[in-house]
Amino acid sequence: MYTKVTTQQLQKLTVELIKKESSGLISKKNIEDIRQVLRFHEYRYYILNDPLISDPEYDKLYKALEKLENEDPKLITKDSPTQRVAKGLTNDFKQAQHLVPMLSLDNSYNAEDLVDFDRKARELSGADTIEYCVEPKFDGASISLIYEDDLLIRGTTRGDGVKGDNITTNIKQIKSIPLSANFSAHGIKQIEIRGEILMNKNSFKKYNEQLAEQGLPPLANPRNAAAGTLRIKDPKVVAERNLEGFLYHISYYSTTGKKHETFHKHSESISLLWELGFRSPEKEKKVYKGIKKVIEWCKEFEETRDELPYEIDGLVIKVNDLAMQDKLGMTSHHPRWAIAYKFKARQSTSHLKTVEFQVGRTGNITPVAKIDPVPIGGVTVTSISLHNEDFISEKDIRIGDAVLVERAGDVIPYIVKSFPELRKGHEKKIRFPEKCPVCHKPLHKVEGEAAWKCTNYNCEAQVVQRIIHFASKDAMEITGLGEAIVNKFHEMGWLKNMTSIYELPYDEIEKMEGFGKKSVHNLKDAIEKSKTQPLYRLVYGLGIRYVGETTAKTIANKVDHLLDLEKYSLEQLQELEDIGPKVAGSIYEFFNAKENIHLLRKLEEKGVVLKNEKKQHRIDGNLTGQTFLFTGTLPTLKRSEAEAMAEANGGEILSGVSAKLNYLVVGEDAGSKLEKAKKINTVKIISENEFLKLVGKK
Ligand code: IVH
Repeated sequence: MYTKVTTQQLQKLTVELIKKESSGLISKKNIEDIRQVLRFHEYRYYILNDPLISDPEYDKLYKALEKLENEDPKLITKDSPTQRVAKGLTNDFKQAQHLVPMLSLDNSYNAEDLVDFDRKARELSGADTIEYCVEPKFDGASISLIYEDDLLIRGTTRGDGVKGDNITTNIKQIKSIPLSANFSAHGIKQIEIRGEILMNKNSFKKYNEQLAEQGLPPLANPRNAAAGTLRIKDPKVVAERNLEGFLYHISYYSTTGKKHETFHKHSESISLLWELGFRSPEKEKKVYKGIKKVIEWCKEFEETRDELPYEIDGLVIKVNDLAMQDKLGMTSHHPRWAIAYKFKARQSTSHLKTVEFQVGRTGNITPVAKIDPVPIGGVTVTSISLHNEDFISEKDIRIGDAVLVERAGDVIPYIVKSFPELRKGHEKKIRFPEKCPVCHKPLHKVEGEAAWKCTNYNCEAQVVQRIIHFASKDAMEITGLGEAIVNKFHEMGWLKNMTSIYELPYDEIEKMEGFGKKSVHNLKDAIEKSKTQPLYRLVYGLGIRYVGETTAKTIANKVDHLLDLEKYSLEQLQELEDIGPKVAGSIYEFFNAKENIHLLRKLEEKGVVLKNEKKQHRIDGNLTGQTFLFTGTLPTLKRSEAEAMAEANGGEILSGVSAKLNYLVVGEDAGSKLEKAKKINTVKIISENEFLKLVGKK
């Protein structure tokens, strides 16, 4: 969509606008330029995954646009980037009819099915060999979009295939879906496009972590998460969930009557969508003549499916020639010119043998189903969390039931459903205990929460879980102090709380079975190293309720010393990025409890660093004390690789150009950062090659 020349022009315009904004010179005259620039940066970020400006720079221009539009609402256009944001809630999703019914796809599971599909298509079309376009089968919620005179006018769910729910407001929250696209340049007046809305694996994982932190059961898979999100009545919540839209089929278009380009192949329509700024499978698509190559690709691709950042459940094979597609036509259920090649299911049935109750770090009691071992996607599953009492009753799960188990992508296994129709009469209802299975104190249920809780803070199970969490990989990263060892040391009476990690009797440990000089030395080493972990790891490791890694980073970045948080009011905590009342309340409570402050002081006495030392470099290398920033596309290194390289040599990565910056490493299409750096004499502007020399790689 944006060629090199326009990329450069738009970057130049971006820099000019940012400059104008900073000096208060921005005016109504610039309004269309700001919109154009914002759309371009949305495209770089959401479609190409390669941003050219920083978030604060984008936000500045966005706010400037909002201000100009507020001052003179006549100037607002329907496709202005500000018009994604919706006020208020959607009452009801009204029904809307698709221009062309949304049919489904026929399925195939093996090479023979595909050979059969090809044979029938050749017979019906009379062709000797057929050209196919193969693309991912996105596993999300299907939608159709209508653009008229270049503007997105409607987004609809699949519904019954003829009519669906009008979810336009929610669709507009998905930043990879353009609010307008230059169809008219191709002579297109109205167009209907089909696609799939997905939640990528990373967003899905984060979303499930959030649910877990709130004591809610996680969702089974990203498909359910995407479909559920599209039906939420608050568009703001939809915007927060980071959905993505993939568009793969033009089902209808009318022309303006003027000269128009037509496309003859499906693959060309995918390219057109890509050029117009849609996230179509342009990069993933493959075109092959004959079914043999298609089959080879299907097999090869299945091996690498987990490498994609989002879930797919197969590939779709489409006859590429559109005239041939017309000739082949449709059944009432599916087109005869396309077929889905479905990957091996990541579901299996098993039998629920028994349920155990585990006490979590915060006292939540989690029922865990023990099932007959089943292999799913290369892993043998034996136990699955049943989350809480509500989950069990909603799904009507009983001991002795046959159950359907799913493992979507890298996600933890999940019981999709039970099969009540297969019951033989000996199945038993799952009874929740009234007392903690470990400390035997009565359990409580907090109003509005689903979990039963053991409220005894000193319950041995909770103590052990807190220590396991503290030592875990994402927290203080004490290798060698995993679940089994923590349990053992706790039994020996050596681990009573987090501080006791730093008082372990190494001489005694060395005498224990399974330990030797070397393993004790390694453990000691890991424990020593943990003392100087970045502050956010300690914050996360403390296990404060609702504080996941992201919130831990937010908090740790704010303070010079962790105990500064003792002085924060609830209001001050809520002012921090992404911290709502519930999370703020929990942090406040933690830092206002005497025993927690005592624990932190004790940890500090033991040498654990509570200061925010992010500016002091822990790694001594030839870049120690030097700051770096990377911009543009580097010739050989990914940005993350280059950053890791700088850090591994003691360098620090800054988030923007400022007087504190020592080196700006520039690649192709470097934008405003470069412009800004040129104005600061002390910033050295270097190439990737020069950077590699600095780190001794050249
Ligand atoms: S083509 C008439 N292409 O899979 C056109 N569908 O299980 C039919 N899907 O209903 C759709 N990825 O919602 C097509 N690359 C892709 C797809 C795709 C996912 C969905 C679509 C369809 C369902 C069938």
